[in-house]
Amino acid sequence: MARGDLYPRPVEGTWTEHYPDLGTSHVSFQDSISPEFYRREQDAIFRQAWLNVGRVDDLPKKGSFFTKDIVAARTSVIVTRDGDDTIHAFHNVCRHRGNKLVWDTTPTEETHGFARQFVCKYHGWRYGMDGACTYVHQEDEFFDVDRSLLGLAEVACEVFAGFIFVCLAKEPKQSLREFLGPMVGALEGYPFDRMTERYSFRAENNSNWKVFIDAFQEYYHVPPLHTYQLGPNNRDPNLTFEGAHYQLDGPHRVVSTTGVQKHKWPPETMYPSEVLLRSGNMGPWDAHDLAREISGVNPGGVDRWGIDNFQIFPNLEVLIYERNWYLSYRFWPTSHNTHVFEADLWFTPAKTARERLAREYAAITVKEYALQDCGTLDGTQLGLESEAFEDYPLNDQEILVRHFHKSVGDWVDDHRRALGDETMAPPPVTG
Ligand code: FES
Ligand SMILES: [Fe+2]
Repeated sequence: MARGDLYPRPVEGTWTEHYPDLGTSHVSFQDSISPEFYRREQDAIFRQAWLNVGRVDDLPKKGSFFTKDIVAARTSVIVTRDGDDTIHAFHNVCRHRGNKLVWDTTPTEETHGFARQFVCKYHGWRYGMDGACTYVHQEDEFFDVDRSLLGLAEVACEVFAGFIFVCLAKEPKQSLREFLGPMVGALEGYPFDRMTERYSFRAENNSNWKVFIDAFQEYYHVPPLHTYQLGPNNRDPNLTFEGAHYQLDGPHRVVSTTGVQKHKWPPETMYPSEVLLRSGNMGPWDAHDLAREISGVNPGGVDRWGIDNFQIFPNLEVLIYERNWYLSYRFWPTSHNTHVFEADLWFTPAKTARERLAREYAAITVKEYALQDCGTLDGTQLGLESEAFEDYPLNDQEILVRHFHKSVGDWVDDHRRALGDETMAPPPVTG
């Protein structure tokens, strides 16, 4: 069976019509401006779904740890690698009187490092990397104290392809693998572990978290917003950018594109720095093509495949590039109209100075384009908050936007029903 036959593709008609549950009507973005809806997302999504908090690369040896503040879930977690090489996650809260346990210069900042134990800064209780309480200061002052019952509160933690996920539900409804489903699960064999050279950036943005995710799940905006990316050759059918495959699986989505194959353009149409460094927003030109034949990659069997953009519900995006690198974005809400954006680019380690420069150049190029995307955020949030319109038309290339907002609405609604909360219908998502 050809890879493209594994999943339905529209032989005729539109992508959106191919998923009839989505409809084609206008979409309300009330879910991106309502403080009440955000409060519901916090409980229904950020305290229920599996959330990617890091990679195994963040825990390089026994005793490694990092903290992750998940504001939307009203908690911070500590993720550790214990002496048996087991990865754990705990609420970052001392069992004695609730002090935030692990922080460095200020409790509002995340930290990471290596430790044999954690010591609470308040009364000195200690915990091992497996969460067990190992020391209670002046223990005999307590009443019938049993340290074995006073460990940290464990958080469900599972690893998929080196991505560490936590789930803050007391009892996750699904295992991580069930949650990720077959489309994302098929990426298990991708050699993420070989891509260890990392470039990171972070931004605090003035928009709802979904508004920025929306900016990365359609390419309709590319010609007007990233004009230079398309350049003068965008009429050549072998060089044009194409949104070639869209696929939905549960709450997750992927769009595969050709990317912009600028390395095939005439040199005079490029920046001199691109020609000199042989790199750009598709990555280093000379990287060997590692990804194309790996299971799960290019699920639509696109011939001129360049990038898979996997949108993993709720807030992780993994872009797998033809030229041997990948990019992850995470979007962490901090209120109904603010969020933190984290981007990481991962390459195989450079072996020469030229390879290193090509990676650095890819990183700054991606950052440049992300800044262009980011530049629309305040304006979109302000516009939506004006409530000038009740709903908005979405085209076929915006199918993933339509699906994302429907998935968010479904999760919020399902959670409300599960609680038997009929006091407030959720804001309409699809108009
Ligand atoms: S709150 Fe941590 S030891 Fe008291
Ligand atoms: Fe963009």
